Amino acid sequence: MTSRAPAKIILCGEHAVVYGQPALAVPFGALTADVTASAGIPGSGLAIIAHDINQSIRLAPEERNGLAYAAQLILRELDKPIPDMILEVRSSIPIGGGLGSGAAVTAALMRELAAWFGHTFSAETLNSLVYQVETIYHGTPSGIDNTVIVYERPVYFVRGTAPITLSIQTALTLLVADSGLSGSTREAVADVHRQFDADPAHIQSMLTQIGKLVDMVRTGLEHGDMSVTDLGQLLNDNHAILRELGVSSPELEQLVSAARNAGALGAKLSGGGRGGNIIALVTSTTAEHVANALQRAGAAHIWQTELEPISD
Ligand code: MEV
Repeated sequence: MTSRAPAKIILCGEHAVVYGQPALAVPFGALTADVTASAGIPGSGLAIIAHDINQSIRLAPEERNGLAYAAQLILRELDKPIPDMILEVRSSIPIGGGLGSGAAVTAALMRELAAWFGHTFSAETLNSLVYQVETIYHGTPSGIDNTVIVYERPVYFVRGTAPITLSIQTALTLLVADSGLSGSTREAVADVHRQFDADPAHIQSMLTQIGKLVDMVRTGLEHGDMSVTDLGQLLNDNHAILRELGVSSPELEQLVSAARNAGALGAKLSGGGRGGNIIALVTSTTAEHVANALQRAGAAHIWQTELEPISD
């Protein structure tokens, strides 16, 4: 048995979404977290082996590791004793890359452990269970990562409300470029909080502005009447505010500039920032040239993904 969950890409609205502004995110199926269950010897208890991070955990009541916590939540939810089994975790999603690696691993692990007991959670229940683990990794996250990863569909997300499926009329080609540096979402979010506390009016106006850009992108995608050039400009505008909020980094700036100079219609950091990934809006004719420029600018990995038209 293997259970799987995809990575996610935030198109726009990160950070502001923590403060109740909307954000848009899509699943990113090129990268996944996979968890495979197998039977352990009787009396062995539950072992979780995370191959990519060379971690091996045996479930114990005092264990506070995120993976162990995820397993404990499922056992509690299903009212089951600790089974004799091994859960093997493999993930191609870079850790600290702003692509939701934590939420994807948690979702896949929870699905697999539930399946072991013959149970399938509704998306709503799984989403709220994954969110509880996200709080260990990220403090008080907005919930956008777990939502897009569990529902596996493009979403218009506002914290504390049911996700709205984003319908897309315009096909988009995106490049995702990894700076190769891991960024702490928890620290980036905490830093924005500090700025907010120091100057609430100023920071709030920046966050509100991000929310307006997100709504314009949503309308553009849903009506299909906005040119990709205009969409790209909105992504650029979003990035400018994120940079002003201090969540970019020299490496991300280098990738964003390289993408734009090579003909990307828009480029911005995606996720928590301070490392991690950028996204660049390209066309089928510019994709290769922009990807080459990103590589020369130091991208550790580059992926191309198409957002296909999808109606609600
Ligand atoms: C992280 O993928 C997105 C942030 O907006 C944090 C959050 O929403 O909790 C930076």
